[in-house]
Amino acid sequence: MTFRYAIYFLIHSCFLLLLGSANDSCIKNEKNNCSEKTVNKYAKDVNMKFKKYYSLIEEAKEGYKPCNATKCGCYTNVIKNDLTVFKKNGISERDIQNIQSKGTKYQIIDNKLFREKNCMFPSRCSGIEHFLLELIPTLPDMDLIINTRDWPQVPKQYGVFGPVFSFSKTSDYHDIMYPAWAFWEGGPAISLYPRGIGRWDSHRKMLGKLGNRTDWDDKVPKGFFRGSRTSSERDSLVYLSREKPDLVDAQYTKNQAWKSDADTLHMPPAAEVSFEDHCKYKYLFNFRGVAASFRLKHILLCKSVVFHVGNEWQEFFYDSLKPWIHYVPIETNASKEKIKEILEFIIENNDIAKEIAENGYNMIWDNLKLGDVSCYWRKLLRSYAKVLTYKPELDKNLIEIKKR
Ligand SMILES: *[C@@H]1O[C@H](CO)[C@@H](O)[C@H](O)[C@H]1NC(C)=O
Ligand SMILES: *[C@@H]1O[C@H](CO)[C@@H](O)[C@H](O)[C@H]1NC(C)=O
Ligand SMILES: *[C@@H]1O[C@H](CO)[C@@H](O)[C@H](O)[C@H]1NC(C)=O
Ligand SMILES: *[C@@H]1O[C@H](CO)[C@@H](O)[C@H](O)[C@H]1NC(C)=O
Ligand SMILES: *[C@@H]1O[C@H](CO)[C@@H](O)[C@H](O)[C@H]1NC(C)=O
Repeated sequence: MTFRYAIYFLIHSCFLLLLGSANDSCIKNEKNNCSEKTVNKYAKDVNMKFKKYYSLIEEAKEGYKPCNATKCGCYTNVIKNDLTVFKKNGISERDIQNIQSKGTKYQIIDNKLFREKNCMFPSRCSGIEHFLLELIPTLPDMDLIINTRDWPQVPKQYGVFGPVFSFSKTSDYHDIMYPAWAFWEGGPAISLYPRGIGRWDSHRKMLGKLGNRTDWDDKVPKGFFRGSRTSSERDSLVYLSREKPDLVDAQYTKNQAWKSDADTLHMPPAAEVSFEDHCKYKYLFNFRGVAASFRLKHILLCKSVVFHVGNEWQEFFYDSLKPWIHYVPIETNASKEKIKEILEFIIENNDIAKEIAENGYNMIWDNLKLGDVSCYWRKLLRSYAKVLTYKPELDKNLIEIKKR
């Protein structure tokens, strides 16, 4: 063996000895007491794991400017964004004809409302017409193509281009967002609300009072979700709930398409739960359904923390709700491990949780009154009418719709 190897061997074994002694001291003490060290190490890991959330929250707070709530000012940007693409060339009569089959045709002529005789979903049309009729004395003449399906109709990448009003969309669509019919009537009819989830103004008052009345500390400290399997994006949470029922209670309910337990992820369907009963839980999950889910505004009024999964699907008021300010954002298709981590972060940071719950409540309570919905409709339609490049004339195939 050469001298060089001898030196190397010496240094190397010293190094191993050092490492060994560091581990040894712990092992040696383990019988007596090593737990404290383990606990500290665990606490440090937790801090490291949660560190990113603290900085996300800090960033969100720094970048947050409350919107101007006067005259539905929180939503004016949405109107501007949705109409921008039509402003360049204006909207011609031809544009309307091209796109007419994508929705129900309405006309406003001389402060009267007209519609195609048939409407695919009568209660949805009726929910829309409530707002149009209320505003009609102040509205200029216009043609409108209003889509009452859940799904938007004007993809940016293909198909015909033109102005279609839809209640919900993603950034892949040119549809112009209008406040859903369900603010007045024609929401999803589940067995709890057989005539549709119904009037937003009464839900808002009832849930708003309940949200204020229920003490945070009296709520069940668990994640909660009930809904049908309209999207597989909901599966991770349901699986997490089956693994950790003490942490999350998330179960699938039946919908009209339900045939067997396979449609509820191989478990019998759970009973539907009213909005009021959702409010008993501290942490509520919102997923999209086919398009955006109507329940987001309701559960925000519980003054619980809302975990809003995915930000692709929008309604007109979503833009005013900011992640980490009004709700906890979760990525679409987040794994159950990821959901668990974020939920644990919120559970361990009670002050942050309470603040987000309050902020979410206040945003909806202060800025999403039925009057704000009417205000949005009015601004939207007046801005839209300005983009028309022609004077609409009464289409004789339409029938007049009057206040009932
Ligand atoms: C302690 O031992 C573990 C394996 O049991 C090893 O991964 C680690 O690097 C050692 N740490 C020190 C400081 O020696
Ligand atoms: C470890 O030591 C701490 C204080 O140093 C003590 O409170 C704790 O009970 C000990 N744990 C065990 C398992 O002996
Ligand atoms: C909010 O908007 C209104 C006009 O709608 C304006 O008069 C008012 O000054 C604005 N308030 C703030 C704080 O910017
Ligand atoms: C709930 O409390 C908030 C804050 O105190 C208040 O602004 C709001 O008007 C209350 N809501 C109801 C329904 O009383
Ligand atoms: C989520 O997962 C589904 C199924 O794997 C997939 O079709 C969808 O594109 C995913 N969505 C996003 C936004 O990644």
